[in-house]
Amino acid sequence: DNSSSGAAPGTDFDPVAPNTEDRVVVPEGYAQNVVIRWGDPVFDEAPEFDLNNQTGAAQEKQFGYNNDFAALLPLDASGKRHLLVCNHEYTTESHMFPGYDENNPTEEQVRVAWAAHGLSVVHVDADLREGGLTPATSKYNRRITLNTEFEMRGPAAGSDLLKTSADPSGTKVLGTQNNCAGGVTPWGTVLSGEENFHQYFANAEGVTDPAAKQRLDRYGFSGTASDRKWERFDKRWDISQEPNEPHRFGWIIELDPHDPRSTPVKHTALGRFKHEGATVHVADDGRVVAYSGDDERFDYLYKFVSDKAMKPGRSSRARRHNMALLDEGTLYVARFTGNSPESEIDGSGKLPADGAFDGTGEWLPLAHNDESLVEGMSAEEVYVFTRLAADKVGATKMDRPEDVEPNPTNGKIYCALTNNTNRGSEGNAGADEINPRVGNKHGHMLELDDDHTGTTFGWNLLLVCGDPGDPSTYFGGFDKSRVSPISCPDNVAFDRHGNLWISTDGNELDSNDGLFVVPVDGPERGHVKQFLTVPVDAETCGPVINDKLVTVCVQHPGENDEGLTSHWPDGGTSHPRPAVAAVWRDDNGTVGEIGRR
Ligand code: FEO
Ligand code: CA
Ligand code: CA
Ligand code: CA
Repeated sequence: DNSSSGAAPGTDFDPVAPNTEDRVVVPEGYAQNVVIRWGDPVFDEAPEFDLNNQTGAAQEKQFGYNNDFAALLPLDASGKRHLLVCNHEYTTESHMFPGYDENNPTEEQVRVAWAAHGLSVVHVDADLREGGLTPATSKYNRRITLNTEFEMRGPAAGSDLLKTSADPSGTKVLGTQNNCAGGVTPWGTVLSGEENFHQYFANAEGVTDPAAKQRLDRYGFSGTASDRKWERFDKRWDISQEPNEPHRFGWIIELDPHDPRSTPVKHTALGRFKHEGATVHVADDGRVVAYSGDDERFDYLYKFVSDKAMKPGRSSRARRHNMALLDEGTLYVARFTGNSPESEIDGSGKLPADGAFDGTGEWLPLAHNDESLVEGMSAEEVYVFTRLAADKVGATKMDRPEDVEPNPTNGKIYCALTNNTNRGSEGNAGADEINPRVGNKHGHMLELDDDHTGTTFGWNLLLVCGDPGDPSTYFGGFDKSRVSPISCPDNVAFDRHGNLWISTDGNELDSNDGLFVVPVDGPERGHVKQFLTVPVDAETCGPVINDKLVTVCVQHPGENDEGLTSHWPDGGTSHPRPAVAAVWRDDNGTVGEIGRR
C-alpha cells in the first residue's frame, strides 16, 4: 500500500464534489481531453462535420450520435495503440437538426439518423504527455449503422418469427439500434445490448390478434405513428406491414473489431429483451457465462451458460470457435430470496435485524438450444418472447437491471439496479429484501456470489444509493460521513485492484452525473468516492479504467425537454455534441495512486 491517506489502492485522490458545471470536472492533479465527438471523421474521406448541412452519406463516415458503451482494445503491448469501440445508442432529432420539424422529418434527416446509430471502431493513440488520447485512421476503422448487414445466429435463427419480406431466410438483419452498454469478451470481441428498440416502430395499436397484442404490450410497443416517422421511408418500421421486423431487434450483438470485414452477429440464444448489455465470465472448466440485465422497471436479470469451453489464444481457428460459444447453451433467469423476515422489510430502506439486505437465489432455466424448458412455449418462442417465458417461471421483478459485470479480481458479479419510482405504487410489486425501497429514486448495487455454471447463488446489496444523510441509504457498512453521494448507478467497470467503478445516469441529487469508485473488499468496502462529473444534462457511461487512463462516454450533453442546456465540448455558444473524454494524471502517474509512477 503506497497511499498517504489510508485510501484503498487505486482510490487515492480528492473526490470531486457534486456540482452543476458545464464541463468535465476531474480531481486535482488530473488532465483531460476530448477524444472524439459526434460527427468527427472515422475515415480519411469523411466530410467535415457541418451541423446545418448533414447528410446520411457523411454520417456513415463520421462518429455516430450518443456514445454509450466504450471499449478500449489494445492493439499491442505498448499501452499506446488501441481500438476504441463505441455504441451509438439513440438519436434526438430535435437536438441534432436546427429547425427540425417533428411532424415532417425529411428523408435526408432520417438517413442521417439511421447512420448515427450503431457502433464506431476507431484507432486511438495514447500519448499522455502530448494531449491524451487521439483518434487516427487505420485499416480497422469502421462504422456499423442501421444499414449494416448482421447475421442472426443460435437456436432461433431462421425461425418463422424472424422472417420478413426483405429476408425470407430469417437470418439476415439490417443494422442494430439502441445499443446501450456492452462488454469485451475474453476472446477479444465486443458484445452490445439492443435496449429500447420498441420506440422505433409504428402502428402497434392496429394489431388485433390477442397473442400478438400481448407480446407487443409486454415489450412496450404502442401507438400509431412513431416519434421519428421512419416508417414513412422504410416499411420495415411499420408493424402493420412487417409484423416480424420488431423480433429482429432486442438481441445481444457481437462484433469482431479486429476483422474489419467480418459480419456482426445477433445471438438469439441469449434471449430477446431490453438488453442493457452483456458481459462474460470464464468458468473453471472453460465454459463461458454471459450475464445480462433487462432494463425496465420490474424486469429481470438473466444469465447464459455455454455448452462448450473457450479455446485459448487468438488464432483465427480459436476465434471462430469462441465466437460460436454464445450460440449453444442454457438461458436462465434469476429468482431472489431474502433471508430476513418479510415483516422487517418495510419499504423505507431500514436495515433488517441481521444488518444486511441479503439472501440466496436460483437460476431458473428457460431453454437449452432447441429444447424449451417453459411449459406452453416452444424454444423459438422462449428466445423471441423471453420476457413472457420469464414471467411464467416466476422470476423476481427488479428495479431496472442495468449493467451486470463479473469482477475479475474476486469473481463476484455486480449489477446496477438504477431506480424504480414505481416500486410499491398502486398495482405494482412492493418492497422485498432485494428491492427494499418503495419509490426507489436512487437505485442500489447488487453483489452476487454465483456458482457460475450452476443454478444457485448468494447475494447482498453493496450500496443503497442516495445522499448519505438520507437514512434509507447504505454504503457497505462504511462510515457514511466520509462517502460521496451517488444516485442512479448505470454502468460498472473494474480496475486492476478489483475496485468497482460506477457511472450514473439521471442523478436525482441536484448534481450532474458522474463516475465513482468504491472498494468492494477490505476495510474500505463501501467507501464511495466521486472521480469525475460530466457536463449539464449529460449521462456518464462506458467507463474504461486502465492504469494510467480513465475513459468515459459523455452522452447527450444538454439534453433537456426545455431545450439544449449545454455547450460542451466546444464551449461559447456552440451546439453540444456527445463525445468521449479521457482523463489521466498530469504527472503521467498511476490513476488513484499518489506518488506512484
Ligand atoms: Fe440505455 Fe439502460 O440505459
Ligand atoms: Ca443512455
Ligand atoms: Ca438479511
Ligand atoms: Ca445504460
